[in-house]
Amino acid sequence: MTNADGNGFSLSRLIGSRKLGLTLQQPFYNSPRIFELDMERIHLRHWQIAGHVSRLPRAGDYFLYSLGGESVVIVRDRDGEIHALLNVCRHRGSRICLEEKGSVKRFVCPYHSWTYGLDGSLMSARHMPEGFDRAEFPLHRCHVRVVEGLIFICLSESPPPFDSLARDISTLFSPHGWPAAKTCARISHVIRANWKLVAENFFECYHCLHTHPELTSVMSYVRAGESKRFGEELDRYTSRWKRDLCRTDHDPEPFQRPAGIQQHGGRRPIRPGYLTQSRTGRPLAPLMGDYDAYDGGVSSIMFFPIHWLVAGNDYGMATRFTPLSPQETEVELTWLVHPDAVEGVDYDPDEVTWLWLKTLEEDKEICENNQAGVNSRYYRPGPYSTAEETVDRFCQWYLEELGTSSGQ
Ligand code: FES
Ligand SMILES: [Fe+2]
Repeated sequence: MTNADGNGFSLSRLIGSRKLGLTLQQPFYNSPRIFELDMERIHLRHWQIAGHVSRLPRAGDYFLYSLGGESVVIVRDRDGEIHALLNVCRHRGSRICLEEKGSVKRFVCPYHSWTYGLDGSLMSARHMPEGFDRAEFPLHRCHVRVVEGLIFICLSESPPPFDSLARDISTLFSPHGWPAAKTCARISHVIRANWKLVAENFFECYHCLHTHPELTSVMSYVRAGESKRFGEELDRYTSRWKRDLCRTDHDPEPFQRPAGIQQHGGRRPIRPGYLTQSRTGRPLAPLMGDYDAYDGGVSSIMFFPIHWLVAGNDYGMATRFTPLSPQETEVELTWLVHPDAVEGVDYDPDEVTWLWLKTLEEDKEICENNQAGVNSRYYRPGPYSTAEETVDRFCQWYLEELGTSSGQ
């Protein structure tokens, strides 16, 4: 798309004219054509988190995951393996699974009853001509990797590299026991904003002090970024925490990956006196994974296009961001707790979800305000602060992906 299209702009010129350090030009945030390209060149090409394995406890359990107009059946087979199958019948293309989730022995297409195994192989097809070979018509499959209990899928035939990210996730999250964890709650909200505005918001904390009173009360780093005194206090506490309190075998030092999709990750303390991310700092649920005591630390990792995982000693939270339309993005949060923890006895879901649900609701409002302003005929790209360096990097990464894939 090098010439002006129906929307009256040239993509290559638009990409070329973006200035480093400034927000993107308006069409990137609201053009239907660019949204389509975003889906094709970013979201359908990169690895996505479809969900946590606790959604598929038994053979035959499945759930649907929708992305960019595609419906994918995520299913566990009798060997325990997880498959991601395109929900498109190989006969005449009907949707096969119509329910959002369920449990089946096999998949039977509702149109003419072609029947598929849990791995997508075609088991039976009636009245087919001589020479018809069932082996030639399995359901299309997506690439699947399960890392620390998270089901990653990629709809591209040649997925981008994943090993380095998988290693970082495993290093950080293996002490947290996510593969065996139970889902405490799964809540989604639709934010009426382009996915990149949502991503930019999640990749910076410049807004946190003014927008997130709960997060500011729980995490020291929010104030530390705004005041020398709080910054020094946090540095002193972090050194003491690493020396005396942190109970992780791996190096808790935060890391930053300068290139590719990986951004920052690491383990850090919450604040003095806080054992977990709760209203009071007191634990909310039984210890998870390898932890035999609360150490008041959290592990987290962020990576592009838009992913964020966080885990404390007693609960964890995984995000899933799904662009729905040029100005709508679904955000799903999944909270994980110890597999034996009993709701109402060992934990209260309202308390476990309190911090990140509040934070999401607050982010929803600011992202929607952001979209409304960006839609104005008076909007012009504005300068990022020094606290928004990751956001600027995200924009560069995004434009490179968009431009490279268009063959420019
Ligand atoms: S379309 Fe599925 S069996 Fe005909
Ligand atoms: Fe936020």
